[in-house]
Amino acid sequence: MALLRILSLFLCMGSLAYAQLLPVLKNPELLQKPSSNLILTLRNPLDPIFSDVASRAFPNREARLQELTRSLQEATQTWHAPIMTALKPFNVQAESFWVTNQISVKNANPLLVRFLRGLAILREIAEEIIYPIMPIFNPSIGTPPNGTEWGVRIIGAEEVWKKGNKGEGVRVAVIDTGVRASHTALRENYVGAANNGWYDPIMRSPVPTDNNGHGTHCTGSICGNNGIGVAPNAKWMGCRGCDNAGCPQAALLACGQWVICPTDAQGRNQDCSKAPHIVSNSWGGGGGGTWFNDVIKAWNTAGIIGFFAIGNEGPNCNTAGSPGDQAGIISVGSTNINDTVSSFSSRGPKNVPDGTVAPLIVAPGENINSAYHLSDNGYQVLSGTSMATPHAAGAAALLLSGKPGTTIQQMMDVLYPTTNRNLGATGSTCGNNAETTYPNDVAGYGRIDVSKAFTTLTGT
Ligand SMILES: *[C@@H]1O[C@H](CO)[C@@H](O)[C@H](O)[C@H]1NC(C)=O
Ligand SMILES: *[C@@H]1O[C@H](CO)[C@@H](O)[C@H](O)[C@H]1NC(C)=O
Repeated sequence: MALLRILSLFLCMGSLAYAQLLPVLKNPELLQKPSSNLILTLRNPLDPIFSDVASRAFPNREARLQELTRSLQEATQTWHAPIMTALKPFNVQAESFWVTNQISVKNANPLLVRFLRGLAILREIAEEIIYPIMPIFNPSIGTPPNGTEWGVRIIGAEEVWKKGNKGEGVRVAVIDTGVRASHTALRENYVGAANNGWYDPIMRSPVPTDNNGHGTHCTGSICGNNGIGVAPNAKWMGCRGCDNAGCPQAALLACGQWVICPTDAQGRNQDCSKAPHIVSNSWGGGGGGTWFNDVIKAWNTAGIIGFFAIGNEGPNCNTAGSPGDQAGIISVGSTNINDTVSSFSSRGPKNVPDGTVAPLIVAPGENINSAYHLSDNGYQVLSGTSMATPHAAGAAALLLSGKPGTTIQQMMDVLYPTTNRNLGATGSTCGNNAETTYPNDVAGYGRIDVSKAFTTLTGT
């Protein structure tokens, strides 16, 4: 009797230990689906590498980026090599990501899924998610601007320009549908192929293109000429993480990784000195999604400042999307020409509360005229938090240009207290604070005022 109990206890412990060693199959239907795209997550956490690089002193940003990239590549190569070798006989396309310790596998069949389930080095097997590109509202044909666009003016960009600062020396990456590089408002601001300015994990285009318009529009609001861009002397670089069908997780990971140490369009000549200072992200979905957090941690370790659209699911509360609702980035909601939060702008409180509001800030995002992909002189008026995010990224470019080396924490510390809080009433209260009390879950810390922020940061 006693022996039986000990034996069953032993068996029970044995099977528990065994179960812990095998990866979680997040989508059991993958065992039936004839073909699916997978994201494999390995067991080893990258946190020790992030903390190690973050805690060390480096002579400059480039050296830190290089060491971060080298450590991540070295560790993940060792872990990924046996899996890549094991995948060979299955004849599938597989790509290894050092930024998140993940591997993407295209067109896996149930046989391969069953095989992967037996690999203890894996923590999770999941189906690749396709994120929608954020919807846009009331599109209409725009016209070449006559003067400065309202969104650029209302946040005080012109006052900063008058001080001789238009974003010089700052590189901003845009993870989106691509960029029409030949557009008259954008062609002078491209960092260029020689500076590893373009990467396209979706279509492998050797040069920047955009079949959708979303990415060209966003880039225009950051650094376009002719009055559409907040920081017209900042330079852009682009990664196609999205196309008309949406943003595949593997493409977003490839872009997130490329940002840390950019390669050329062929994936060669990696050079961390070409990394952007800011990355603008007008994509996302759902809420409480943590899958991009290792990329964000890597950006934080590298000193790259990330902006994310909070989503277009307003005016209901609890509609903040991910990665916008995650830590380590600045989330952006939308305002209109009357300085009122747009009804479509997503609101907090967050699905998974962390003591912060969502969005963190708001910026012009309704009826925004900017460059479009259809011709070199094309303009379009679009609305969405997608349009608000590049206004905030452009403002950060002005600030970084005024004070190079500004960290994300310093950026938050200067943007939040200098906002305009005299906003029109929306009548909606989300979370604990009424919309007249800041921060709140409708307008965050308020509508950005880059002129005030610039004065506070630089003393000029
Ligand atoms: C452009 O703006 C100026 C000054 O605001 C105005 O006088 C002019 O008529 C405008 N031009 C067009 C084509 O709208
Ligand atoms: C801004 O306010 C004016 C005057 O009240 C109104 O006509 C206009 O529709 C408002 N614009 C928006 C985008 O709400």
